[in-house]
Amino acid sequence: MNGQDKDGLSRKTVAKKKLFIKSYGCQMNVYDAGRMADVMAPLGFDLVDTPNGADLVILNTCHIREKAAEKVFSDLGRLRPIKEAKANDGGRMMVAVAGCVAQAEGAELMARAPIVDMVVGPQAYHRLPEMVAKVERQAGRQIDTDFPVEPKFDFLPAPRASGPAVFVSIQEGCDKFCTFCVVPYTRGAEYSRPARDILAEVRRLASQGAREFTLLGQNVNAYHGEGPDGRDWGLGRLVRAVAEIEGVARIRYTTSHPRDVDDDLIAAHREVSTLTPFIHLPVQSGSDRILQAMNRGHTTAQYLAIIDRLRAAREDMVFSSDFIVGFPGETEADYQATMDLIDRVGFVQAYSFKYSPRPGTPAAGMGAQVAEDEKSRRLIALQGRLTQIQTTFNDSCLGREMDVLFDRPGRHPGQVVGRSPWMQPIHVTAPDMVLGSMARVQVVKTSPNSLAGTVIPGSVVPGANVGDFSRRESA
Ligand code: SAH
Ligand code: SF4
Ligand code: F3S
Repeated sequence: MNGQDKDGLSRKTVAKKKLFIKSYGCQMNVYDAGRMADVMAPLGFDLVDTPNGADLVILNTCHIREKAAEKVFSDLGRLRPIKEAKANDGGRMMVAVAGCVAQAEGAELMARAPIVDMVVGPQAYHRLPEMVAKVERQAGRQIDTDFPVEPKFDFLPAPRASGPAVFVSIQEGCDKFCTFCVVPYTRGAEYSRPARDILAEVRRLASQGAREFTLLGQNVNAYHGEGPDGRDWGLGRLVRAVAEIEGVARIRYTTSHPRDVDDDLIAAHREVSTLTPFIHLPVQSGSDRILQAMNRGHTTAQYLAIIDRLRAAREDMVFSSDFIVGFPGETEADYQATMDLIDRVGFVQAYSFKYSPRPGTPAAGMGAQVAEDEKSRRLIALQGRLTQIQTTFNDSCLGREMDVLFDRPGRHPGQVVGRSPWMQPIHVTAPDMVLGSMARVQVVKTSPNSLAGTVIPGSVVPGANVGDFSRRESA
């Protein structure tokens, strides 16, 4: 083991360098940003929270809608003077574009933006150190958007707990090909990590003090990894195994597809008390005609039947969802069907978007594209309805007691923020030492976006004070 620590990393001293990562898009990108930081750490790169003076800047991009994809170009514009300032000081700032725009438009990015030194797709992050070394050696600009045969997870260092609530990637990619979506092209085919590796990661993070585990995947409930018993495990089986690990107080998973909610997952919701009674289950539309044109593979009735079964498994279950308005051909009647579905289910939280045509996807070429101002009108009314439901749900929590995991300091000294089992942010007045702990909280005040409460004396289950809990002005 001489000269090597237990992860096999060289301990020789390396010059300290600054790494700035900006992530756009989904939680998978947030997770990936952590992995990229981990893979660069042995080369002396420490994370900083400003691009000014950084040696390496990574823009971890999202391609899901046009607006998201365009952000990368405006951010690259902002980086140019910063890169020049560093060069004027005799230094060098390398710029890498990672994530889904890198995957989808890598070559174009290289051509359009000379400031970019590297383009690295989501399946190639383990190769980042080699690419950086090449750029440092003046070996030219680097691009890697392959879908390599070797799964990147086998080559990435083990993640460390960044706080009491952590993400664990269990599945990546998508084979569903919804007609509006770029993800199958940017993230590639479905891949499930072996359960043994996931359980080892959870054990390690739990021993470092993590308490809440969000199992992540583009289609997380399509998970079908190899179990330690050599059999194929689905998400339900995996959740049960995660729940048995010491220190695991809460389990979530995201994002699910209605088509992949199976009996065993529903049973897991009945049996595993630490599995939260909150599911993000995107439906996109309440019109069967539109669902079909989207290639979602289910009807509204089938979706409602799944909701009923999950509610029967656990009566305090609530749902959140994603909606797209103005998909090509969406009529007023289709849109009203979506509004009806929203009322039927009573989603307590949702993300909703105007349909954005994406190059290369089938829907972009469909006729009957909906006018932009009509999309805006539909979106505003839909969001208004969703906000009403969310407010009613928050109000219904007044006076209730709930388990809260405190994961961040509030804006004001003496205030601490946590999350309820239903994902609501909840503020309490308590010493910072409760950060990382679970406690029973009684809700004393509600607002459309959050709750306030008081900690029930004697209910604090101390956690390890893991992560950086410093108060940040901009947070
Ligand atoms: N895998 C998840 C969603 C991933 S993308 C699922 O199956 O639902 C996140 C959300 O972005 C989608 O649920 C959808 O609502 C939205 N979205 C994806 N492509 C879009 C597009 N072209 N225009 C508008 N919204 C889009
Ligand atoms: Fe995109 Fe559909 Fe796959 Fe979700 S299931 S990632 S919306 S193609
Ligand atoms: Fe965006 Fe890629 Fe996630 S397109 S939503 S960053 S999978």
